[in-house]
Amino acid sequence: MSLKTKIGNINLNSCLFNASGVYCKIKEELSNLNTCNSVGAILTKSCTLESRVGNDPPIYWDDGSENSINSSGLPNMGYKYYIENEDIVKYDKPYIVSISGMCEEDNLKIVKETINNNDISGIELNLSCPNIEGKSQIGYDFEAMQNLISKVDLIISSMKSMRRNNFNFGVKLPPYFDMLHFRLVADIINNSSINTITCVNSLGNGLIINHISESVVIKPKRGHGGIGGSSIKSIALSNVRQFSLLTKCDIIGCGGIMNGIDAFEHILCGAKAVQIGTKFYMDGIDVFTFLEKDLLKIMRDKNYKTINDFCGKLKDL
Ligand code: DHB
Repeated sequence: MSLKTKIGNINLNSCLFNASGVYCKIKEELSNLNTCNSVGAILTKSCTLESRVGNDPPIYWDDGSENSINSSGLPNMGYKYYIENEDIVKYDKPYIVSISGMCEEDNLKIVKETINNNDISGIELNLSCPNIEGKSQIGYDFEAMQNLISKVDLIISSMKSMRRNNFNFGVKLPPYFDMLHFRLVADIINNSSINTITCVNSLGNGLIINHISESVVIKPKRGHGGIGGSSIKSIALSNVRQFSLLTKCDIIGCGGIMNGIDAFEHILCGAKAVQIGTKFYMDGIDVFTFLEKDLLKIMRDKNYKTINDFCGKLKDL
């Protein structure tokens, strides 16, 4: 039995890896992901042109078992830290840079420079950061999204074919809730050279409150932030399902994966790999070993040998 998989142009020894944002901002955390055998890839914190300190704390809250809210405000070391990271050559698994520039020009500059480092396996272009005040999520502005993707596409398609074949163009989408939106976004993606889609980012601008203290639980934006954990699993599954049916891209599932069953469900809906956010935040690096065992146990019980034996094979009634 094996959790080996392929996402776009990238081979992974395990279908499990971190969601961008969780313990992946500094080199020590990135190395920690490299050291854990159950982790399939190393994904960086979303980066911007310049380093950022992010929002005033508290910026994260979880209930210790199921749900979380965050509004970090893109704290990161600046893109050079991630693309010039001298440890990359020592990593023995794919290294993917998440990019969330503050404007189109920044995104294009970072993409261009990322491609120039042959040791970087790909990008996850973040179209769904919900936590920058005054900035809407690109993934909800279809015109801006189309513009950015077509410009990144020009850069990617001008790459030499050798590099192009081992460079992965991924995007991370916000959750959608409307069938027309699924089709519109799938159309944009199908007219591009995008290889992978990560579904979904946190559910933007939710509000978790404490009824005892009668207050919000994080400081930024009067307590509003991205919701993660069990409460968004059903939304994540529908997005994984829809984009796996409507596009030719490989889908990376993210949202509400707390145990092996949740990972199994994502894969059944069409995910070829899954990212762990809230549960990684709560449990630390050991979560990957736990999830690997838990998912392999389900596969053993069902007599599945590989991810492909059940990937996307969800039955209709
Ligand atoms: C942040 C949160 C996100 O969901 C994201 O996609 C990028 C950045 C943040 O608050 O740092």
